[in-house]
Amino acid sequence: MVMHQTLTEQYIEREEKYNAHNYHPLPVMLEKGAGVYVWDVEGKKYFDFLSGYSAVNHGHCHPRVVAALTEQAQKLTLTSRAFHSRLLGEYAEFITQYFGYDKVLPMNTGVEAVETALKLARKWGYTKKGIAENKAVVIVCGENFHGRTINVISFSTDESAKAGFGPFTPGYEIIPYNDVTALALALKNEHVCGFLVEPIQGEAGVMVPDDGYLKTCFEMCKAANVLFIADEIQTGLARTGKMLACDHEDVKPDILVLGKALSGGTLPVSAVLCNDDIMLNIKPGQHGSTYGGNPLACAIAITALQILKDEHLCENAEEMGTYFRQQLAELNSPFIKIIRGKGLLNAIVIEHEDKEAAWNLCIEMMHNGLIAKPTHGDKIRFAPPLLIGKTEIDECVAIIAKSMAVLQS
Ligand SMILES: Cc1ncc(COP(=O)(O)O)c(C=O)c1O
Repeated sequence: MVMHQTLTEQYIEREEKYNAHNYHPLPVMLEKGAGVYVWDVEGKKYFDFLSGYSAVNHGHCHPRVVAALTEQAQKLTLTSRAFHSRLLGEYAEFITQYFGYDKVLPMNTGVEAVETALKLARKWGYTKKGIAENKAVVIVCGENFHGRTINVISFSTDESAKAGFGPFTPGYEIIPYNDVTALALALKNEHVCGFLVEPIQGEAGVMVPDDGYLKTCFEMCKAANVLFIADEIQTGLARTGKMLACDHEDVKPDILVLGKALSGGTLPVSAVLCNDDIMLNIKPGQHGSTYGGNPLACAIAITALQILKDEHLCENAEEMGTYFRQQLAELNSPFIKIIRGKGLLNAIVIEHEDKEAAWNLCIEMMHNGLIAKPTHGDKIRFAPPLLIGKTEIDECVAIIAKSMAVLQS
């Protein structure tokens, strides 16, 4: 340790020495959070404009989530599915009624839920649709992000996610996002069991498809006897101004995949929801997870879902999102090429000759008290916790405006 280092530098040095280098974080060292704010180890306060990639929709350390967590943590945390726990049934009843499905299959991380949805689709394809053994195909979209397992990166179009990790899993057909003609063509293959889609592509830079895209895709899937699988891990749970992003087009996915904010931002909780004709094709021993559906996760998820309704977070996300985009547009910055998003899932695309401009802007915003992260070089996602108010949005837009000066030099 070098003595003149700041605390942040010391902690970063230790992390880099002992932790894998699989991320490229902003040089900020956080140790506390409350609502829309986080604080670093030197006591500096920031607006959190990433919200744990939309896992912290409820705001940091929401008192009701923390209370549910601590209360349950003192009673029972893990049983495994070898035994029953009362909370699993309570949670399953709650979440299935909340979203209107027959059954839930509880998992932990987002990618595990995606894997679960893919297994359900294949199993349904063989059992119900009569697809020939080992021939099932799932249609996916270019520029997707569904997680990091070898199976899931097998159908990524991001070379940096794939390079050096082959061989990859077969059984996927990649079509362009927001392209119904490509979907129509791909659906002609009788071996297709599912179409996996993000209602808005978050990691790709908040790519919002054309109005009607989801509805048309859903109807095309119905006509072709193919399951419409919505990955709402990032877009779901009030983030885009509706409970699910699919709700904007009145689409009820055959398989719904949730994660992130299902835990109120505490620990990994994910879920796959569908009806019995799909779910009951999976029998005991065919899928599972030690932690999936653990009592602690169940207690937290019930509370997290309840808060979304009690605190009207859909409505607030819708209203604040519209206001935020308007305020950004009024900046009239020559460096903002595009402003896009729905609810509080937003992004700007930076126009600048310096390829590092988006990163430099994020560093400047950090110095000025707002943390956000670039994605794919020139895009910056703005996704604050959903309880943010108008005064805070004004403050944040002022920080963004002030920070833009760094792009002039
Ligand atoms: C749409 C989507 N699917 C899946 C995942 C993977 O979730 P996890 O990182 O919890 O595995 C993410 C994470 O960013 C995501 O945004």
